[in-house]
Amino acid sequence: MKTMIYPGSFDPLTNGHMDIIRRAAKLCDVLVVAVLTNKSKQACFSKEERLEMVKDAAGDIPGVEIVTFDGLLVELVRKLDARAVIRGLRSESDFRFEAEMAAANKLMLPTYETCLLPCRIDLAFTSSSIVREVASYGGDISSMVPDIIAGKVSRKLSPRDYSPQQERQQEDK
Ligand code: PNS
Repeated sequence: MKTMIYPGSFDPLTNGHMDIIRRAAKLCDVLVVAVLTNKSKQACFSKEERLEMVKDAAGDIPGVEIVTFDGLLVELVRKLDARAVIRGLRSESDFRFEAEMAAANKLMLPTYETCLLPCRIDLAFTSSSIVREVASYGGDISSMVPDIIAGKVSRKLSPRDYSPQQERQQEDK
């Protein structure tokens, strides 16, 4: 049974993530989508909210399991005996971060392997941060996130309740 892990903060899940989930699920027997914490980012949605959004949007895809995990990704890889970790690659600027992460994880776990999937060209500029920015101005995010979570994302990030400036200030701290 080949298990692969697709980890991310999914803050929130986007159509770009969904594309990677669907394609990666075809490469293995079980794809575990792991909702993790990225300590270098201040998450906007709680881990429970992010988990629920991924379950709502991807829970029915055959061969896909969805979990959260507190701790290092390598610990989850070890625990699940996963063959590889999948990451989506949008641009050159993603590559540096992904290469660093892959190298650090391989130093900690020599059997660790990373598969980088280039994202679909029409989704290359869809990111969770763009979704948060657009939604915070009351903009239309319906082409950026799965329909089933669009309402939830818009409500949480509505101009009344959320300011991206605040988020940036928090990130700077
Ligand atoms: O969607 P993101 O924010 O790019 O995902 C990054 C994530 C969550 C996969 C990464 O921060 C992570 O693996 N966090 C778990 C803790 C860990 O293992 N950190 C070391 C990575 S070198």
